[in-house]
Amino acid sequence: MYQILEKKTLNANTKLMVIEAPHVARKAEPGQFIILRVTEDGERIPLTIAEYDREKGTITIIFQEVGATTMALGQLNVGDCLHDFVGPLGKASELEGLKKVAVVGGGLGCAIAYPQAKKLHEMGCEVDLIAGFRNKDIIILEDEMKAASTNLYVVTDDGSNGRKALVTEVLKELIEAGNQYDAVIAIGPMIMMKFVAETTRPYGIKTIVSMNTIMVDGTGMCGGCRLTVGGETKFACVDGPDFDGHLVDFDGSMRRSAMYKAQEKASVERHEC
Ligand code: FES
Repeated sequence: MYQILEKKTLNANTKLMVIEAPHVARKAEPGQFIILRVTEDGERIPLTIAEYDREKGTITIIFQEVGATTMALGQLNVGDCLHDFVGPLGKASELEGLKKVAVVGGGLGCAIAYPQAKKLHEMGCEVDLIAGFRNKDIIILEDEMKAASTNLYVVTDDGSNGRKALVTEVLKELIEAGNQYDAVIAIGPMIMMKFVAETTRPYGIKTIVSMNTIMVDGTGMCGGCRLTVGGETKFACVDGPDFDGHLVDFDGSMRRSAMYKAQEKASVERHEC
């Protein structure tokens, strides 16, 4: 069960895997995620569904090898199996009725922005996709994003590929140029989503963010993924992961995400020993 059918290296530390999981593929929608365990006693990690194929019964995941579990996952090969692969979890993104949207992806967030853009594009929506990366070496899915959008704007922090700019600069220019967006969808590091929300706030454009919080059970029981939205406590795993970016307390969420950095570092060091 949960056999790895395909494995691709997208850049130095980002990998794509196609997993056999027919019961997940049957119901998966853009915006939802899975929680997997590599081994029986392993840590549970949430990963957004990058792609699904209902006929083949497969789910595609894209992950960065940044922690002990993702490093262990990256060492598996085609033919190996995962111990658990639970999903689809979370609410599907609400994309119905949108006619013109700017989708903003940052780094690995582009792996999640891509299926959103693809679904919108297939629904006949005009999609401006803004993809930001630190440098050219970590660009992923450029051809796929081009095919899933009306206009693709790739920017890098250092100008090593495409324009040297922040995603928020491009977004502001597009808004100022008169593009009337029904919504802006931002997926990436929390700091990027915070500033995308600040960019759109003065224009009153609906802004949806995908909150990549710490998660444990993915069922609303453990409280690990809690965040504050509009002054209320919400759980990213069952109430999200999509939320109104103008209402999210990003600073609180960033503080919570940093809480386990020391433990994560220790477990990576154990893994490397
Ligand atoms: Fe446990 Fe959301 S992951 S409540």
